[in-house]
Amino acid sequence: MDKETNLNTLPDSEAFRILADSPISMVLTDPTLPDNPIVYVNRAFERVTGYGPSSAIGRNCRFLQGEKTDEDDLQRIRDALKAETETTIDIVNYRADGVQFLNRLLLSPVYDTEGNLTHFLGIQKALSDAEASNSANVTQKALRELKHRVKNHLAMIVSLIRLQGRSSPDPAPTQSLARRVESLLLLYEELSEPTVSHRTGNVSLGSYLSRLVSTTAHLDGRAGIRVNSQIEDATCGSEVAAKIGLLLSEIMTNALQHAFEGRAEGVLNVSMIPLGATAIEVTIADNGIGFAEGVEWPKTKSVGGRVVLGLMMELGAERDVTSGDKGTTIRLKIPIETQ
Ligand SMILES: Cc1cc2nc3c(=O)[nH]c(=O)nc-3n(C[C@H](O)[C@H](O)[C@H](O)COP(=O)(O)O)c2cc1C
Repeated sequence: MDKETNLNTLPDSEAFRILADSPISMVLTDPTLPDNPIVYVNRAFERVTGYGPSSAIGRNCRFLQGEKTDEDDLQRIRDALKAETETTIDIVNYRADGVQFLNRLLLSPVYDTEGNLTHFLGIQKALSDAEASNSANVTQKALRELKHRVKNHLAMIVSLIRLQGRSSPDPAPTQSLARRVESLLLLYEELSEPTVSHRTGNVSLGSYLSRLVSTTAHLDGRAGIRVNSQIEDATCGSEVAAKIGLLLSEIMTNALQHAFEGRAEGVLNVSMIPLGATAIEVTIADNGIGFAEGVEWPKTKSVGGRVVLGLMMELGAERDVTSGDKGTTIRLKIPIETQ
């Protein structure tokens, strides 16, 4: 049988008493006062942080932070407060007894009836170890740290290979190896950029290839040979980007080493344009000596040639090659996809 329901609205004072005693930690700050100090904490704030009202009121909440609090998290809070937007962030805080905890902090602006900002509301929850290890913040930080390490390790490998190359009678193979690792290092740097969407693993191909072209021109360039690049932007997954980077650096180096033999001057033009969202066109054009009669590109007998062929096959790239006494133009149409 249905019971008749009597809906009694709570008076504000009663609702406030309930909130004050609730297990959810709450603070209110007053942004109209200097340094946005705490003007109210409920009882649960003391349970979560160990600080009672007398030690919290009048202070900015930053007293909860310490050595391991992440600067990026603080910047996100500053940005949210400035923009008066609601935000949730898992931030490293310290209790009054010095014990560290991960605080899931919800911040929200509070306005009066005229729409003026009067307070900020903060709700704190100390995450359990299990909750903390699932925190998106923590996972992202661990990934960022991992990328940073991989980047440093790759940089170390590049310098070791180069060092070894210098003392070897034929430095060419070690140089090629160093260049290939270097192109991956640049990709990792690109992946570590905060502007890139880390979560999806997609890369700004334009920015990556621009840096790759100038690094390759710097490492393998010759006096008198000018390298021009015109790289537009496109986005693709890091797997595909890695292969495109390796392919481009291989072809560029080959052109710099062989296309201008016997010439004091020359120009190498490298361009990339998107063909819609699903393909790009990469052109590597030199005004050098051209291929000798009957030479096929890529040369399947050289290691570099086989690398190029393998990468083109994996990428599903179509090629159009013209070569003559005005130089060589290699045009590649490469399908790309985002992840
Ligand atoms: C309502 C409110 C509650 C806050 N609660 C916390 C908190 O529990 N822990 C914390 O580390 N920071 C907290 N903050 C953030 C700091 O007060 C401060 O905004 C942050 O440190 C960034 O600013 P700063 O660079 O001036 O320190 C809170 C801020 C507001 C407005």
